[in-house]
Amino acid sequence: MKDNEKIRVLFVCLGNICRSPTAEGVFRAQVEAAGLQERIEIDSAGTGDWHVGKAPDRRMQRAARERGYDLSELRARQVKPEDLDHFDYILPMDRKNQVDLESLITALEQLDKIRLLLSYNPSAIREVPDPYYGGEAGFHQVIDLVEAACRRLLIQIRKQHDL
Ligand code: 4NP
Repeated sequence: MKDNEKIRVLFVCLGNICRSPTAEGVFRAQVEAAGLQERIEIDSAGTGDWHVGKAPDRRMQRAARERGYDLSELRARQVKPEDLDHFDYILPMDRKNQVDLESLITALEQLDKIRLLLSYNPSAIREVPDPYYGGEAGFHQVIDLVEAACRRLLIQIRKQHDL
């Protein structure tokens, strides 16, 4: 990667209306707080297409707003094969998302970019549970897990790329 090139980060879940937009919003806030918004490009997408064009789930937006994150401008999109070339860090929320992403690869180096977001988590939890069919607590758990993992992701990226 050239010095002046952006580092590109893509968060991926199933619908792109709960977990991955939250990760996008949380990571963007952390990157801006570090003054690195010109160096790191951030996006999110879903493996499924049911919610394409929609804003994040209202329950997720509400929980995020309570924690200081505004997700209202985000719109869902589906992962496309070109994403696997464009992005440097491709971070699925759970193993099913990971397997679905892996089914899209066309070159082995794409595989190395795909890593569970919670591989950066300090705790033993490795998947961000899908909150869609559960209660309010599930949405707050998404934020807890994503905040902790994103903090460490940013530390790793800064080390790796000398930022
Ligand atoms: P997400 O949550 O993958 O975190 O956006 C879901 C959103 C929608 C559905 C499942 C999970 N759904 O079945 O429609």
